[in-house]
Amino acid sequence: MRVAMIGSGYVGLVSGACFADFGHRVTCVDKDAAKIARLHEGEIPIFEPDLDRLVAVNVREKRLDFTTDLQGPVAEADAVFIAVGTPSRRGDGHADLSYVHMAAREIAAAVSSFTVVVTKSTVPVGTGDEVERIIAETRPDADVAVVSNPEFLREGAAIQDFKHPDRIVVGTGDERAKKVMTELYRPLYLNQAPMLFTTRRTAELIKYAANAFLATKITFINEIADLCEKVGADVQQVARGIGLDNRIGSKFLHAGPGYGGSCFPKDTLALIKTAQDAEAPLRIVEAVVAANDTRKRGMARKVAAALGGTLRGTTIAVLGLTFKPNTDDMREAPSIPLITALTDMGARVRAYDPVGMDQAKEVLGGIEFAEGPYACAEGADALVIVTEWEQFRALDFERLRGVMKRPVLVDLRNVYRPEEIEGFTYHGIGRPAHGAS
Ligand SMILES: NC(=O)c1ccc[n+]([C@@H]2O[C@H](COP(=O)([O-])OP(=O)(O)OC[C@H]3O[C@@H](n4cnc5c(N)ncnc54)[C@H](O)[C@@H]3O)[C@@H](O)[C@H]2O)c1
Repeated sequence: MRVAMIGSGYVGLVSGACFADFGHRVTCVDKDAAKIARLHEGEIPIFEPDLDRLVAVNVREKRLDFTTDLQGPVAEADAVFIAVGTPSRRGDGHADLSYVHMAAREIAAAVSSFTVVVTKSTVPVGTGDEVERIIAETRPDADVAVVSNPEFLREGAAIQDFKHPDRIVVGTGDERAKKVMTELYRPLYLNQAPMLFTTRRTAELIKYAANAFLATKITFINEIADLCEKVGADVQQVARGIGLDNRIGSKFLHAGPGYGGSCFPKDTLALIKTAQDAEAPLRIVEAVVAANDTRKRGMARKVAAALGGTLRGTTIAVLGLTFKPNTDDMREAPSIPLITALTDMGARVRAYDPVGMDQAKEVLGGIEFAEGPYACAEGADALVIVTEWEQFRALDFERLRGVMKRPVLVDLRNVYRPEEIEGFTYHGIGRPAHGAS
């Protein structure tokens, strides 16, 4: 099949490369000329494990190419995917659909014969209807079926997730479109990945409901962690104790500094707005968003408490800036409000991240950046682990003690067992502090 992927970001590039790897002929389109130029040079504009190899193989086999010009690839495509951004709209939190609408207009102008237009971007219920309307208005003669096919991949494990999905959701009532979608996903379908055909509106809502539920699970365990700290219980054991119940499940029960990233914050907000407009408010999700927002900044108070209540005049070493490991994505990373609050409270911040430093420098002003964890810790009053990169799981604490001013570890991801860290005072999330006098 011939595929045009509109938008070559985290989702578009990974999906495009994976579809090419399935044997389809894919062109990834992006308006960002610098991004396309880098891809032509064989460079991958984002950090995603194994993506460089997958792209290189499929470019070499002539199944994958890149362009800024949508016209040709769309005219030839059996399926055109919309994988552009849907950030929060400034002011009200609704999803900003301007990129989706713009893509729909451009696609409409370019389609030739029957084409399936697939929305892969996360979009509010009813967006498919609007895309259909825009296409019909721009090109009344166009023969298209507009399908919803939300994406569930996680950054950092995106290729694995795309190729081994828990399910593929396809929202359409059009039989021709169903055939094309089944053909596109054939290798996964043959591999027993459940393919769920629903109405378009249902498919659109499934994506938001999934993200809101996961955000709720994280926020639930975070609040339980706060309670653990007050009553002298251990959240790790509570999480294990409830997670072993199959009805609950152990995933997404890791207490931490609050969820961030390119999806949960904006998707929970957009879902709340949709629900309010539909007069079916989602009060649980509203509470989740509020609890998560206050939590991120609250982490700075935790650091202050570990240092006796005040941060003025201290140096804080921050390890990990991206919103999770194995990505360079800084969108809505918990490190941002944390560092802002630390500096507001008078601390000097020095930070290190294995991959996300360039992106971090664009969003974090007024702090120092170090070349590695030990340089970061030099002269620091406390070391704060914010993102659980693999390389922070086996730090040399003797060396750290040698370079730090005070041996204080604030482990916002519960990477370490408190009793393992000799000579440090240890402050995790949802468990008793250790070694504190
Ligand atoms: N990042 C994730 O982990 C993830 C997971 C599942 C779903 N999603 C959803 O997928 C969508 C895309 O997310 P992303 O993280 O890949 O975004 P991104 O910002 O990384 O990429 C979007 C790309 O689209 C391009 N673009 C915008 N308008 C265009 C147009 N008219 N023509 C061509 N290119 C255009 C932009 O230049 C950008 O490169 C969002 O709706 C998001 O919610 C993201």
